[in-house]
Amino acid sequence: MWPDTRICELLGIDHPILLAPMAGTTSPEMVAAVSNAGGLGSHGCATMAPDKLKTEMAAIRGLTNRPVNLNFFCHEPPQMDEAHHKGLLTALAPHYKAAGIEAPKDMPVPEFAPFGSAHLDLLLRHPPSVVSFHFGLPEDTAVAALKKAGTTILCSATTVEEARWLETRGVDAIIAQGWEAGGHRGVFLDLDNDAQVGLFALLPQVVDAVDVPVIAAGGIADGRGIAAAFALGASAVQIGTAFITTTETRSHGRHQKAVENGHDSSTRISRSVSGRPARTHRTDWIDAVASVDAAPFPMMYHYARPLQTADGDRHQFSLYGQSANLAPAGSAAERLQHLVEDASAVMR
Ligand SMILES: Cc1cc2nc3c(=O)[nH]c(=O)nc-3n(C[C@H](O)[C@H](O)[C@H](O)COP(=O)(O)O)c2cc1C
Repeated sequence: MWPDTRICELLGIDHPILLAPMAGTTSPEMVAAVSNAGGLGSHGCATMAPDKLKTEMAAIRGLTNRPVNLNFFCHEPPQMDEAHHKGLLTALAPHYKAAGIEAPKDMPVPEFAPFGSAHLDLLLRHPPSVVSFHFGLPEDTAVAALKKAGTTILCSATTVEEARWLETRGVDAIIAQGWEAGGHRGVFLDLDNDAQVGLFALLPQVVDAVDVPVIAAGGIADGRGIAAAFALGASAVQIGTAFITTTETRSHGRHQKAVENGHDSSTRISRSVSGRPARTHRTDWIDAVASVDAAPFPMMYHYARPLQTADGDRHQFSLYGQSANLAPAGSAAERLQHLVEDASAVMR
C-alpha cells in the first residue's frame, strides 16, 4: 500500500512510520510497542547518563528484537560567563518572585553532555539497528564506527543546506523537520535562522536536493498528514506529539493535558526553557520571559527548572509539542495501527 518503500527496505520495517524520539517522553515500552507493531520505535536518549542508557538499552532488548532507533544530541558544549548569569538573574527576578520561588544562585553546569565516546562505547557493545542525531552529527569517526557496526544513521535537517551537508557526511536518510514540529528545532548550521519554513515548503525542496530517502517530521498526526507527506516526496514520516498521550508515555499529566487541549494558537517557538529554540505549549513562564537573553543550551534548564517545584506540578516548564490534537486515546501500538489504517484509507 505504501507509495514509497525505500525506508521500509533500508530499516527492515513494515510501515514507514517512525515514532519520534522524545527525551523525557518515550519509554522502552513505547519504543518496543511501535517496533513490534511494524513501525520504528525511537528512544530519546540524549539526556541520559551512561548508566541509565545502559539500563534502557537492556530494557528495550528485553521487549523487542525488531529494529529500534536510539537518538542523541550533537550540540556544541556550552560556554557562559558570569556577566550573562548575573544579567539573567536580574531579568528573571520578577518572574521568580511572581512564582513564589527562589532564584538559583550558582552558575549553571550542563545537565548532560553532547554525544561522545561514553555513548559510542555503549552503542558499539550492542549496536542498535538505527541511531539518529539531532543538532547535527558527532565526529566523522563516530559515524564511521557506527556504520561499520551495521547501524543505519539518520539525522534531522531544518533547511536544504543542512540536508546537503548531512548527505555528504554519509547519513543514510534525512529527517526533514518542518517549522511546525513539536520539540527542539534540529537546526545546527545557523542557530539564528528564523527564516525556516514549514514542512509543505521544506519537504519537496529537500527531496529534490538529496539522493538519500527523506523522512517527513512536523505536524503529522493522522492519515491525511501521512498521505500529504508521501505526495510531497517523503519515504516515511516521523511522528512525535501524537504519541505523547499514549499509555506508555513518560510525560507528566500537565504535559498530556496541554497536548490534549492543544489548538492552533497554543504553542510558541521559545528558547526560554532549554536555551535552544523549541516548539512548546505556552505557559506563564514562556510568555513572561520571551525576550530574555537565554543561557546557551542546555544551561537554560538551570534557570527554568525551579518552576518544576513551584506548585508541585512537575513539567510546567517543559511542555514540548505541536498544537494539533488529532490522535485518539490508546496505547502506542493502537496509535500506530490507527495511523496505518487511516493513511491507507486516505491514500485509497
Ligand atoms: C516532547 C517532544 C520531545 C522531543 N524530543 C526530541 C529528542 O529528544 N530528539 C529528537 O531528535 N527530536 C525530539 N523531538 C522532535 C521530534 O523528533 C520531531 O521532530 C517532532 O516531534 C515532529 O513533530 P510533531 O511533534 O508535530 O509530530 C521532540 C518532540 C517532542 C514533541
